Amino acid sequence: MNVPTLNHAAQIAPPAEEPALEVDGLVKSYGKVVAVRGISFLVPKGQVVGLLGPNGAGKSTTIKVCLGLTRPTRGVVRVFGSTPVTAEARRRMGYSPETPYFYPFLTAEEILAFYAGLQGIESVRASVDRVLRATGLEAARSRKVGHFSKGMVQRLAVAQSLLGDPEILFLDEPSSGLDPEGRLEMRQIIQELKQSGKTILLSSHILSDIEAVCDRVIVIKAGRIVADRLLNNEMPELEVEVEVRALPEEALATLRRMGWNVHYDEPRLSVMNLQPGQEPELLSVLAEHRAQVYQLQRKQATLEDIYMEIMRKGGEEQ
Ligand SMILES: Nc1ncnc2c1ncn2[C@@H]1O[C@H](COP(=O)(O)OP(=O)(O)OP(=O)(O)O)[C@@H](O)[C@H]1O
Ligand SMILES: [Mg+2]
Repeated sequence: MNVPTLNHAAQIAPPAEEPALEVDGLVKSYGKVVAVRGISFLVPKGQVVGLLGPNGAGKSTTIKVCLGLTRPTRGVVRVFGSTPVTAEARRRMGYSPETPYFYPFLTAEEILAFYAGLQGIESVRASVDRVLRATGLEAARSRKVGHFSKGMVQRLAVAQSLLGDPEILFLDEPSSGLDPEGRLEMRQIIQELKQSGKTILLSSHILSDIEAVCDRVIVIKAGRIVADRLLNNEMPELEVEVEVRALPEEALATLRRMGWNVHYDEPRLSVMNLQPGQEPELLSVLAEHRAQVYQLQRKQATLEDIYMEIMRKGGEEQ
């Protein structure tokens, strides 16, 4: 009789959804230089992951191995379950390199049509139109790339990465060297790609960009992951600072009875553990005690605070 065993039951359980990207025990050496020293992470479909870390940390190397552009020394990379070097996996990936270079005497659309041809895309014209639109380069389509600004070249690199309508995008510092307006445009382009459901690995040194567009940040230092955190999740407790005068002792006692961890050094009242949305409650307690409130300021840690702390400590995970 065929009695199902525990193992058997596990086999028939519905499999978890296949991740878009799986990096397992990745090590990459260039001769004596060990660029990546054992990195593992999974990226679910549709997630936007920021890769952060100092110069030389191993971000671009990790991206290149994921793309199959260079082979791992040890470890495995799977893109949608298969090795990245197959034509099928390549078709599903898009890449915007760290320092894009395009032949300067060609126009944007000539370059894109050339790459579309290389990729074997059938509807070249439609694909070129689509990616020019997605990156806001329609008006510049007939201009020679040698006359492009740095921001336009970066956008062209992203446009080129989108030609085959890939499911996963590797964007290696797409905003480096851009002015504030160019950075904002690039951020909007990435946000739209995210909304269209793309999985994205975005390497950047611009913490505010990562904070604005990424669901998760992976911090790499000296070839190792030193932090892997979700962003935009439930906000943790807030620390707020209130400028308030004439705060009576009873008010402090009331605030403490309500569970808040408070400290008052006139005129600065610090509340260490406020839940998001409790600010009105706090202010009404102060008003009931006729305290004079001048301003309230949130002191939530930014990604910059977190990053600096991780760099100082040298890592928290893995
Ligand atoms: N082709 C190569 N040959 C030799 N060493 C390399 C090569 N590519 C990268 N490296 C070395 O590997 C390490 C990691 O480099 P990588 O380019 O991956 O870092 P990164 O995190 O992308 O840095 P950055 O923020 O400056 O772009 C560095 O020490 C670098 O000098
Ligand atoms: Mg790099």
